[in-house]
Amino acid sequence: MLTDRFGRNHRSLRISVTDRCNLRCTYCMPEHTPQYQPRSEILTFEEIVRFVKVAVTLGVDDVRLTGGEPLVRAQLSTLVQQLNEISGLRKVSLTTNGILLIDQLEALVRAGLKHVNVSLDALDEESFRGATRRSGLEKVLRGIDAAQQAGLMVKVNSIAMRGLTDNQIGAFGEFTRRTGIPVRFIEFMPLDSDGNWNTSAVLKGAEIIAMFSEQIRPLIPIRDGGSSPSADYRFDDGLGTIGVIASVSKPFCESCDRFRLTADGQLRNCLFGEDSGDIRALLRGGSDDQSIAAAIKAAVAAKMRGHGTDDLTFLRPTRPMHAIGG
Ligand code: GTP
Ligand code: 5AD
Ligand code: SF4
Repeated sequence: MLTDRFGRNHRSLRISVTDRCNLRCTYCMPEHTPQYQPRSEILTFEEIVRFVKVAVTLGVDDVRLTGGEPLVRAQLSTLVQQLNEISGLRKVSLTTNGILLIDQLEALVRAGLKHVNVSLDALDEESFRGATRRSGLEKVLRGIDAAQQAGLMVKVNSIAMRGLTDNQIGAFGEFTRRTGIPVRFIEFMPLDSDGNWNTSAVLKGAEIIAMFSEQIRPLIPIRDGGSSPSADYRFDDGLGTIGVIASVSKPFCESCDRFRLTADGQLRNCLFGEDSGDIRALLRGGSDDQSIAAAIKAAVAAKMRGHGTDDLTFLRPTRPMHAIGG
């Protein structure tokens, strides 16, 4: 069991498989020349699988693949399949921007993928372009639709930014009520490459819930007690689900059950922390499984109580979001 100093059990591992991306979201990537990690430093699938097998012996039962954009990594479905073959792993899921989903869906389904979270900030092409600096909305929507048709559990994650999200309330209300797909809004966090984050740009979870309630129908909280970071609501007539991940105004650090492995093989015990264990060096230096297990335990043991974005005592991590994994 991976229990930290504050009694939090860590069952959930987020693995970034690449820091590369085919979008340039303003709240994440720089507009020009992102500094990508050299390919030689990126863990191979074999290295990732070995690491996950060790993590599972310590109680990890939930792995989420992230990026950058995970689907730009060649043959991602092969990794999904290899992870699905690990006994003791209850859930393998994917967080993607959805651009390549329609192209890879069949292979992902064959590999046993059952859960996909698609990041989507706007439902009209102009606002989509404004947020991502690229086109592709229509392709994302086709991917979402196909994933739902294929029987996957699909959720949409949307950044909560003032000036963007407040203009999308009607469209997302219609979307979740028509499709039944939950839409969750993530408060803009100080992890953007350009360093433009400021508190006034954050559209707070409570404000979003109020806007939906006023503009669509009253929202009613859903109590679930799961480990998801979102607070979820349904409309009073039962059609559509809205969630908020209030990382800034109401952090969920107290119940956090997650840690991360970056694409270049570094452990991170918090989204806002720093690298806390060089797994790549262990994997490539001939270390045995016990040493890898010891590194994971040490990283969890060193975890801080919280990140301080709410009281503004936080320090910006040196890695940008696309090199951490979201
Ligand atoms: P579900 O199991 O479907 O609830 O997935 P999830 O919400 O854990 O995963 P997802 O990748 O959809 O996470 C949604 C967003 O929440 C991420 O993109 C991050 O922006 C944010 N998030 C995820 N983990 C953390 C974390 O440890 N700390 C903070 N502050 N935010 C996080
Ligand atoms: N604040 C909040 N969420 C962010 N993401 C990327 N950068 C930020 C940020 N600065 C989210 C994306 C996507 C996920 C991978 O991370 O919206 O849903
Ligand atoms: Fe790419 Fe996701 Fe970052 Fe957007 S938020 S640039 S989709 S990694």
